Amino acid sequence: MRKYTLERARAYEKKAAAAISAHQRPAYHLSPITGWMNDPNGFSYYNGEYHLFYQYHPYKTSWAAMHWGHAVSHDLLHWRYLPAALAPDQDYDSLGCFSGTAATLPDGRQLLIYTGVHRGRGGHESQAQCVAVGDGLDYRKAAQNPVISEDNLPQELSPYDFRDPRIWKTEDGFRCIVGACTRKEHLGIILQYASKDGLDWRFIGELARNDGSHGRMWECPDFFPLDGRWVLSVSPQDMLPVPFKYVNGNGTVCMIGDLDETGTRFLCTDDQPVDYGMDFYAPQTIQTPDGRTVMIAWMQNWDTVGHPDEPDIPWHNQMTVPREIHICSGKLLQWPVRELDTLRKNPLVRKNLPVSGDLDLPELRGRTTDIVLSVRGASEHLSCPGFTLCVARDADFRTELHYSAAEGTLTLDRTWSGSRRNFSHIRTCRISEKNGTIRLRVLLDRFSLEVFANGGEEAMTAVIRTGLSADRISFHAEGDVLLDLEKYDL
Ligand code: FRU
Repeated sequence: MRKYTLERARAYEKKAAAAISAHQRPAYHLSPITGWMNDPNGFSYYNGEYHLFYQYHPYKTSWAAMHWGHAVSHDLLHWRYLPAALAPDQDYDSLGCFSGTAATLPDGRQLLIYTGVHRGRGGHESQAQCVAVGDGLDYRKAAQNPVISEDNLPQELSPYDFRDPRIWKTEDGFRCIVGACTRKEHLGIILQYASKDGLDWRFIGELARNDGSHGRMWECPDFFPLDGRWVLSVSPQDMLPVPFKYVNGNGTVCMIGDLDETGTRFLCTDDQPVDYGMDFYAPQTIQTPDGRTVMIAWMQNWDTVGHPDEPDIPWHNQMTVPREIHICSGKLLQWPVRELDTLRKNPLVRKNLPVSGDLDLPELRGRTTDIVLSVRGASEHLSCPGFTLCVARDADFRTELHYSAAEGTLTLDRTWSGSRRNFSHIRTCRISEKNGTIRLRVLLDRFSLEVFANGGEEAMTAVIRTGLSADRISFHAEGDVLLDLEKYDL
């Protein structure tokens, strides 16, 4: 008898979800229907709706045998849970249905491609790529699974790190990239495969290779054209820090580049972190029907996530807000999807507000809010002095955003944000004034904060655990400033 079946997961989650009230969840971020969530999977637009699957374990709030959870949405913000899509119920995926992606087949059915993890030769864990085909609700795993096995893997690469297929459509079928890793140096390689029908795959070659400057294994690769360039995003493990750029541990790297003359090899010209905060990993993108490229990620990080949440919350982890992305002058720009603007309520708007020291605005409160700030020196000739914005604040708690004009940096500090653990609570990135002005947009939800600086040139994301009654928002200028402020409830 198998321990994990789809029937069991579906019956369990239905009951468990009924016991979670909407107020225990984020207001506009997707959390798992119950239990544990990590990476977004199979992000797609299928049959008139956005589908988002996720790495999922229904039975407890920590990582264990991976299923795929499933939700659908019309606006990328209000999600309706569907029954779990995949359970680790076959020999080839008995240790987990790991991350993957989705594509629509010519006959209109949806194909999911994922990594099946099983005990392989010599008792080692082994990873191979598998597919399941369905109608947007129920999926049947293919009899041919695994469709890309370790037999399709060049000898120098390890079968223990061979995962996270990313599929896309081509003129004559499908392409797919998969993350792999050298046996010896343990460095990530992105492999490419091609298929006419999504079932029968052949190895084409390497798309890109880690020369050691971006961690070791590259997880969850994504590859897509954007604004005339190509983007390869990867989530490397074991990163070493680079000042003001990368931090230790698990990160996310956006590489911008072009294809070589053969059209099969990616040549990177610029690289940057996708997000400078603590909690952003394994992003996936889609192309929306109106042509936007939208990215969503797991709003967590492996180095901090293992620690217990509040014991009475029966779900753990969430996705970021979906972000429209662009490339401008070799830089990735991110902005919350425009659908979010339609959720804005109760506007509080002040323009050209002179502030010296503390801003005294008692109505500046809220825990599910969209805050837009534009801060400049008090006169045309003055640059923007330093300032601090605090959210989720009461007498004991606060989450701080500090702009230092002297350093040209923005610092996110969640030391006083409810965590009982001694992991990283402070992140700093460089930011520069534009015409003497610093612009920030801050999305606050019950358990998180996402910051977009200077029109999305820098993003910083963090999970917070501050009690929900801490709802004050405060602003302090280090000199004389003029402030444009908008605040909306979401
Ligand atoms: C990234 C990752 C993937 C893997 C999945 C397992 O967060 O480690 O590489 O497929 O999580 O849950």
